[in-house]
Amino acid sequence: MKLGQLETPCLVLDEARLERNVARMRAHLDALGVGLRPHVKTAKSIDVTRRTLRSKEDAITVSTLKEAEYFLAHGVRDILYAVGVTPNKLEHITDLRRRGAQLALILDNVDAARALAAHAGASGDAIPVLVEIDCDGHRSGIVPGDPALLAVGRTLTEGGCELRGVMTHAGASYNCGSVAAIKAMALQERDAVVNSAKALRAAGLPCPVVSVGSTPTATYAEDLAGVTEVRAGVFVFFDLVMAGIGVCALDDIAVSVLGSVIGHQRDKGWIIVDSGWMAMSRDRGTARQKLDQGYGVVCDVFGKPYPDLIMADANQEHGVLALRPGSHERLPELPVGSMVRILPNHACATAAQHQAYQVVRGEADAISATWPRIAGW
Ligand SMILES: Cc1ncc(COP(=O)(O)O)c(C=O)c1O
Repeated sequence: MKLGQLETPCLVLDEARLERNVARMRAHLDALGVGLRPHVKTAKSIDVTRRTLRSKEDAITVSTLKEAEYFLAHGVRDILYAVGVTPNKLEHITDLRRRGAQLALILDNVDAARALAAHAGASGDAIPVLVEIDCDGHRSGIVPGDPALLAVGRTLTEGGCELRGVMTHAGASYNCGSVAAIKAMALQERDAVVNSAKALRAAGLPCPVVSVGSTPTATYAEDLAGVTEVRAGVFVFFDLVMAGIGVCALDDIAVSVLGSVIGHQRDKGWIIVDSGWMAMSRDRGTARQKLDQGYGVVCDVFGKPYPDLIMADANQEHGVLALRPGSHERLPELPVGSMVRILPNHACATAAQHQAYQVVRGEADAISATWPRIAGW
């Protein structure tokens, strides 16, 4: 089967690029002497994750309990659920743990710690916990130096839970304007958790795990002394947002949406395709970058970008392809029925619109496999 025989839109994954991306991150983290606990929320696929892990005993990070269920069913047991936990999930978490998941949680406040301690007392399940640290003001977490860290640590240990360590996610790295800024953010991310770990230990509390992770900071980190693991996620696929901040090249992007030309508005310089925001997602992450890529960069069926051709606009099932404003390139001749591949702004969001990956290798258009992916909670 060839890409040209598929019904569109659908999601294409270049396995050669995936393998290259994984090998590069692995080699970098090996050189820094730190482990990888990949965030599997990007691909939500055991086939992709198998190519990311070194063995079944390897560790993963998940963003939903559905992912935890799915990966446990495929034999992956060492799982960090890296979204602050709420009481309504605790029964499910203990059930997963009784079925063999070595599931650990994160939280960043005393209320959540108390609820977890009460659950540990009632269920006898001493669930391991990492305290979330806010390294960059991006989202949640305890700011380094805030005494709340020790209060949470004590509530957990005195309440019969296992205080396993600290974690942070430098989400602000996605907005960095230069490689130098990403390197500085990697240091800031590292220092936030390493210093928080020191504060816990100085207070006599345990802190064996010190966990960081975002693809930009993981890519450019130069010294991770004191860190035990990195939770990078989108590096397996990369995307236009990552390319826009200098974390990857366009030809590292492993996922694209295959679409077909359905018509033209020649006076407007438009090519219309059957792939709109439902296939690409509404993510416009490059809109705030130096180079706005619209809803995606348009490539030929072998994955080679057409100069300056982007998906300039999108309706639910229609995409409008046009040259980027100010371009002197010529619109390519793409008759009705021609196929294009569109690189996404945000790989996690685009992949989430699809149920499977059509796997190809390099510039070949032969489909070697179809890998399912999961969705929902
Ligand atoms: C808690 C946490 N850890 C790690 C990651 C991975 O970040 P990235 O996809 O940039 O590698 C994310 C991504 O959102 C996250 O929320």
